[in-house]
Amino acid sequence: MTKRRTFLQQVGLMAGAFSANSLMNQLHAAEWEAAERRIGNQLPEAVAADEDYWSVIQQAYTVNPNLVNLNNGGVSPSPRVVQEAVSRFNQLSNEAPSYYMWRILDQGREPLRYKLASLAGCSTEEIAINRNATEALNTVIYGLDLKAGDEVIGTKQDYPNMIQAWRQRAMRDGIVYKQISFDFPIENDAEIVKGFEAAISPKTKILHITHIINWVGQILPVKKICQMAHRHGIEVIVDGAHSFGLLDFTIPDLECDYFGTSLHKFLSAPIGSGMLWIKRDKIEKIWPLVCNDKPHSPDIRKFETLGTRSFPIEQGIGEAVNFQMAIGSKRKQERIHYLKNYWASRAREIPGVRIHTSLLPAYSCAICGVSVDGMTPGELDSALFGQYKIHAVGIVWENISCVRVTPHVYTRLADLDKLVLALEEIAAKKRKG
Ligand SMILES: Cc1ncc(COP(=O)(O)O)c(C=O)c1O
Repeated sequence: MTKRRTFLQQVGLMAGAFSANSLMNQLHAAEWEAAERRIGNQLPEAVAADEDYWSVIQQAYTVNPNLVNLNNGGVSPSPRVVQEAVSRFNQLSNEAPSYYMWRILDQGREPLRYKLASLAGCSTEEIAINRNATEALNTVIYGLDLKAGDEVIGTKQDYPNMIQAWRQRAMRDGIVYKQISFDFPIENDAEIVKGFEAAISPKTKILHITHIINWVGQILPVKKICQMAHRHGIEVIVDGAHSFGLLDFTIPDLECDYFGTSLHKFLSAPIGSGMLWIKRDKIEKIWPLVCNDKPHSPDIRKFETLGTRSFPIEQGIGEAVNFQMAIGSKRKQERIHYLKNYWASRAREIPGVRIHTSLLPAYSCAICGVSVDGMTPGELDSALFGQYKIHAVGIVWENISCVRVTPHVYTRLADLDKLVLALEEIAAKKRKG
């Protein structure tokens, strides 16, 4: 019954993506519908390993065939439909900027909010569209009324822009910013929840948590942390830069209070796009980061007075949502998890190679850390690029030291075979000295 419902939901979402005037419709309708028909009502877990299906998706991207890009955790490319939408809106804007941007393209913001809200499973009145996760999360960090002595708990494994924002608040307002530290990978929800709970004091007002730790891909049990925090009367801010568009969830399901994300990572939206979600009854009390004539309005749009920004980039997000819906979030999550385990489960058998991330779907999806004994992350990163033209990224941050590898839906198995071969050769060379 559930399987059937999921399938019907998938078909319903596809219909939305292929609405009459969508670029998706013009570029992909026939071949995607054929691919969809061929896989029938197979479960997403089974489709994850269907190379014929995914080759249709791979062809929708325009990535450089001579470079294996495995740093999609940094920023992801957009498929052709999204690139074409941006360039079409850009040309239009330049015909008469103030007319086309403010009178024509501006009309697209509410339909876009509706699309993003459908994908996030929430009300349109809880979604603000902005430029990136830093802007979304800094809006909440600087917008909360906190007084000297109030405590905020984060982790040493959070993203630097958020750590620095909290430190700045500590400097300006005298709040106390405490950071706990985890030794990832951890395959135990209770251990993570307890780690946060142990740091709580009567002065704690906020927990700041990262849904997927960018350095090493650990997924945190957000809902359980939020439930625990709420029992203590504490609000939770979630940094979802890497989870939105990758994991199949709705934001209200997380039970958090605030959620910020970039859309140019796993959603493959135009570079420079982001989103802020605030639980409806909390909107009123958050000050906008950029001025607004009604700073205590309960209208989420008060966070969008950004001044002149790129309308083509903003409107291009719509095609990225179409693209996501046509694949289906669950299917995408299963595929990317399959790709990560495809290489990581083989790499961990190579003598001298270590994997720094869980292979279990509850604790990781796309991002995975790898190291070779006797090599620094910088050395391994350079060897991968220098000798094999595999682009990943060396990470040295707090207690984490590895190379971060992140595939995306366009990644081919041949690219990952090349990565495993490269690791075999590099590790063998190192062993021989
Ligand atoms: C966990 C996390 N949060 C926030 C950000 C910031 O994203 P953006 O540069 O889009 O603001 C990143 C970027 O990599 C990240 O990894």
